[in-house]
Amino acid sequence: MKLHSLLFGAITLAFSAAALAQQPIVIKFSHVVAKETPKGKASDFFAQRAGELTKGKVKVEVYANSTLYKDKEEMEALQLGAVQMLAPSLAKFGPLGAKEFEVFDLPFIFDSYAELHKITKGTVGKQLMAKLEPKGIKGLAFWDNGFKSMSANKPLKSPDDFKGLKMRIQSSKVLESQMRSVGALPQVMAFSEVYQALQTGVVDGTENPHSNLYTQKMHEVQKHMTLTDHGYLGYAVITNKKFWDGLPADVRGQLEQAMAEATDYANKIAKEENDGALEKVKASGKTQVYAPTAAERAALKKAMMKTHKEMESRIGKETIEAVYKETGFDPSKL
Ligand code: LMR
Repeated sequence: MKLHSLLFGAITLAFSAAALAQQPIVIKFSHVVAKETPKGKASDFFAQRAGELTKGKVKVEVYANSTLYKDKEEMEALQLGAVQMLAPSLAKFGPLGAKEFEVFDLPFIFDSYAELHKITKGTVGKQLMAKLEPKGIKGLAFWDNGFKSMSANKPLKSPDDFKGLKMRIQSSKVLESQMRSVGALPQVMAFSEVYQALQTGVVDGTENPHSNLYTQKMHEVQKHMTLTDHGYLGYAVITNKKFWDGLPADVRGQLEQAMAEATDYANKIAKEENDGALEKVKASGKTQVYAPTAAERAALKKAMMKTHKEMESRIGKETIEAVYKETGFDPSKL
């Protein structure tokens, strides 16, 4: 072989090795909601900051609206390492075996974001995140969404109004019990399928924070909505633990910084986004929005409190009581 072709080969090899070394680390971040939601906006924010803080060493690709995975599949994909980051709703951790997370789904357990933050920003939140590690998952942050309203094609004022209604829920034993407590028939369904199921009458109604309802246009296929604020829906941002632990320490630190900033952002915009979405739902004139009286809300709470007792053995009494203690919740008080 001639010397110059040998030299040429060596140079090409050196160039491709350098190019390979500069390939960014790709983080696929999958989620099931629209871009214009608290979770959608916060994951885009994280992607932007991760790119800036790592100076391009990390490229976060966000896949919104179930374009990569539907609810059920995404957790499996994360554990297998096919996707590196997710922000599933807190209800999604029970089916994974971390049943303590289901405490967040108990009806009426939080009266405000301030109460919720006592858990998500406190010791209980940290203890919950630690439960994910044996499952190969590292919990990075809690991101807020909001408090849920009930919707259907008939007015929902008293617990009796729910009797016999097929209500879509996320896959959750707690939400199943909550719907049964008012005589409704819970129907588990992937988020991406809810609009069509409501439109075609496969289900009669559902529950949502307003940002989810509005961005999926569910208000266009629901004639009535009641501002029940009966439960909370929010997220835990998670990553594949092996992937995370294998990152260079400086990059991991920069990503932690990006995540801290994205978390502040998510939790700052969540209420505004939900309030804004409610205004838009009202302005659309497509659904009648009803604000229940204090007595109506108390009647709903009374009926749904059965779920707290019923779920005690599943979630764990200590976890439920730890939350009661932190937030000052008194189950005997309506
Ligand atoms: C749902 O299925 O209703 C939610 O988990 C969707 C979401 O991620 O907010």
